[in-house]
Amino acid sequence: MVIRVKTARKKVFEHKAPARIVAVLGGRLSEEGQLLDQQMNSALSNYLKKKRFSGQFGEYALFAVNDGEVVLFDLGKRRGHTLDQLRAVGVKLAEIAAGLASRDIVVENFLADRFGKESASYALAEGLFLGAYSFDKYKNEVKVIRRNFVIAHGHGPAVERARVVMDGVYLARDLVNEPPNILNPVELARRAQAMAEEAGLEIRVFGPEKIQELGMGAYWAVAKGSDNEPRFIEIVYRPKEAVDGHIALVGKGLTFDTGGYSLKPPKSMITMKGDMAGAAAVIGAMKVIAELKPPLEVRAYIAAAENMISGHAYRVDDVLKAYNGKTIEVLNTDAEGRLTLADALAYASEKKPEALVELSTLTGSCVVALGAQIAGLFSEEESLAREVARAAAEAGEKVWQLPMEPAYKKLLKSDIADIKNVGERAGGAIQAALFLSEFVNVPFVHLDIAGPGFAEEKKDNPDGPAGGTGFGVRTLVRWIERRV
Ligand code: BES
Ligand code: ZN
Ligand code: ZN
Repeated sequence: MVIRVKTARKKVFEHKAPARIVAVLGGRLSEEGQLLDQQMNSALSNYLKKKRFSGQFGEYALFAVNDGEVVLFDLGKRRGHTLDQLRAVGVKLAEIAAGLASRDIVVENFLADRFGKESASYALAEGLFLGAYSFDKYKNEVKVIRRNFVIAHGHGPAVERARVVMDGVYLARDLVNEPPNILNPVELARRAQAMAEEAGLEIRVFGPEKIQELGMGAYWAVAKGSDNEPRFIEIVYRPKEAVDGHIALVGKGLTFDTGGYSLKPPKSMITMKGDMAGAAAVIGAMKVIAELKPPLEVRAYIAAAENMISGHAYRVDDVLKAYNGKTIEVLNTDAEGRLTLADALAYASEKKPEALVELSTLTGSCVVALGAQIAGLFSEEESLAREVARAAAEAGEKVWQLPMEPAYKKLLKSDIADIKNVGERAGGAIQAALFLSEFVNVPFVHLDIAGPGFAEEKKDNPDGPAGGTGFGVRTLVRWIERRV
């Protein structure tokens, strides 16, 4: 039941004995806290008597004992806790732990009597993993260390499950955080391949010739401006016992988005390595699915490309022909995600999945509407929308449904082609969703993760550090489990 993490080292280890983390609930010490208190000459209870905690959730105090440390963590009021809060406790504890001088840390199974041992262990373990993540491979000064958390009297299988899901989240975060000079489309495909081989998944990867031969003219137009070749990636999970039908996942995989000739201004271009966060979530989720082995077939599709400027790059005024035959007038080369997705969605639709969920860092407009922490959810299929929204809520990821207003479809009418790739500024996220829906003919949910896919600052990510968040992995896994 040990939760092993590799994390940034902030302090040298001075202590052999594990640090202990005990709860204060409604101003009172937990049972374990009381036992410790006796060994500590009432240092903990004396502290509480002086009312140094304001009773606010998340406060803590650090005590040094002989050869170890004790953290008193305030869970706030006696009642009214949620599993989301317990996950947040785990995140916070992992962050506190970074400053401890102990390698091993024993955490109480907080609120196990409230939620049951299994659910409580799962939420806490998830939080510990989420909060302990760090991406330091390019920092010479930072020492990465192994740290072990133990949930005292925890639920072993729940902790193990959390590890499996978090492996997928860590992979997604790593892929997003990797700089774009390293992680280009070719490298993204390589990493997907490495994951698939290790996990025992089928994978197919197409290069420029095959992409053009298949008639993916919208995707190719975006990709052809870069010296880094595109890669179309298809990953398949098949359950041991053959089943009828399958579900499909699609992720936007722009390993960098300069905007193309509709060039982004300098400040907006920063963080655009994260424009493959949808692809990362899909790859992370497939890794988890390979381990959990649900009795249902899952196919994942990523049209990976880099949106660059060159003599080969596409321009505004170009007319493209998508995989499904529809023609598209380009009015803004920065609306490239929907072009790559048009072909990935049409291709995925061809195999007639029972449902298709697509994730993309698609529009700044969605960030304006919902902020950094909430994804936009779009669907014309109300029951599927509810399924995915519910999975997200259970997984602790925030989504909010926005309308696919049919009246706005006419904003995408083109004078020269079947459709144009941008309409007007107001309602941009909705128009983007409507554009995508022209290339799908199966039940379909679009998640615009432009906000929560990448945290510009720590404050934008309640579940860990700045950078890639792994948003979507938990929702996808939960959704797939629920469909079984
Ligand atoms: N990758 C961006 C969207 C984005 C913006 C993601 C901010 C993450 C944070 C996308 O390709 C884009 O540039 N969209 C344009 C669309 C517009 C030209 C219609 C946008 O949102 O401005
Ligand atoms: Zn763009
Ligand atoms: Zn983009």
